[in-house]
Amino acid sequence: MQDFPLIWDWIGFAIRWLHVITAMAWIGSSFYFIALDLGLRKAPDLPAGAQGEEWQVHGGGFYHIRKYNVAPAAMPEHLIWFKWESYSTWLSGAALLMVVYWLGGDLFLLDPAKADLALWQGVALSAGSLTLGWLIYDRLCKSRLGNHPTALMILLFILLLAMGYGYDQIFSGRATLLHLGAFTATIMTGNVFFIIMPNQRIVVADLQAGRTPDAKYGKIAKLRSTHNNYLTLPVVFLMLSNHAPLAFSSPYNWVIAGLVFLMGVSIRHFFNTKHAGKPAPHWALAIAAFLLIAVMWISTAPLNYESLEASEARALSTQEQLFAQAEGFETVADITMGRCSMCHAREPAFDGIHRAPRGVLLETPADIARAAKVIYLQAGVTNAMPPANASFMEAEERLAIIRWYRAAQAGS
Ligand code: HEC
Repeated sequence: MQDFPLIWDWIGFAIRWLHVITAMAWIGSSFYFIALDLGLRKAPDLPAGAQGEEWQVHGGGFYHIRKYNVAPAAMPEHLIWFKWESYSTWLSGAALLMVVYWLGGDLFLLDPAKADLALWQGVALSAGSLTLGWLIYDRLCKSRLGNHPTALMILLFILLLAMGYGYDQIFSGRATLLHLGAFTATIMTGNVFFIIMPNQRIVVADLQAGRTPDAKYGKIAKLRSTHNNYLTLPVVFLMLSNHAPLAFSSPYNWVIAGLVFLMGVSIRHFFNTKHAGKPAPHWALAIAAFLLIAVMWISTAPLNYESLEASEARALSTQEQLFAQAEGFETVADITMGRCSMCHAREPAFDGIHRAPRGVLLETPADIARAAKVIYLQAGVTNAMPPANASFMEAEERLAIIRWYRAAQAGS
């Protein structure tokens, strides 16, 4: 199965596509309902139990929506639930995490320069920390702090920073930010699955039995729903952060994540207030702009790449040794150092490139043995790299990469 990496890359692509679409559906409906909720108005003819109504126009028709808090007097005939948007986002996200960061863990999850972990240990830490993170968060919400939403939010922020710092001690920068995203998203879906939905089911059961539902169920769900509202913007940044090497490869990546988190919360606050019909708090946007400048400044801190010497001295794994010993390695090392290292270096020489793009280093034979798979994918079977063939790579050189990679696979 020499083209296994290729097949996995496409499976990863398919799951990513699904994940982006379900996430759009989820966050889209979340934005819609928050704005709807904030825009509700009183009207003289509201039926008993209705809190407000809203008229909307969209796609050639008018909509007349009413909200009943906690529930209408009787169970309606048709009731649409919103839960699969959230569940399918979490499920596809978990699958993507497994494909990219667990199966591809040697490249994307672990950073041997930080911690010497076996892949299974990394995977256990990944899964364990996400589970533990949810349990701690859930405990905090159910404690007395649940009555102090602001204090709770601050504590949650500190928890996120602590997890970011912890992840950065053991995982690659890319995996650190992605795991913060996975932690946040797990809280959000956990809130829907374990709290909001069960409470809503109790209310529905009460309605069906002709009982008046207790208002406390609405209140509990409201706290979690408010958290989800404020987490939407930060989670999108964290999930896209692998496109932001300035953020993930910085030694202060977890600080940057924290500041971007606050930016997201500020921007969300701006829109929440505006949609509630109150004067728009422009100061919240000013804070977000100020935070962005702070993030830019922090990202100029020198990167602590593993030095050339340390990288050469660090032992190759058995798998990496196969690539270093396979026929054609020397040719490929020459090609890669000649065609790629002007950009993919600790100190790039290519005009306009200041950091190794995406943190991919291709300067030494050891770097190259470690990156065998991505070299094969980006510059062997495809011509994705170099961009616009900036360093004039020739077709024969790509063939040499393919032959070497397959020889190593055949030998394994
Ligand atoms: C002109 C500079 C330049 C050269 C030369 C170059 N790259 Fe890149 N490389 C980039 C940039 C820029 C990116 C980031 C692209 C992005 O973020 O979409 C990148 C990204 C990558 C990635 C990460 C892709 C991903 O999706 O994570 C790999 C792997 C890679 N390059 C391999 C190579 C190889 C192998 C060569 C030589 C055959 C090479 N590059 C030559 C600029 C370069």
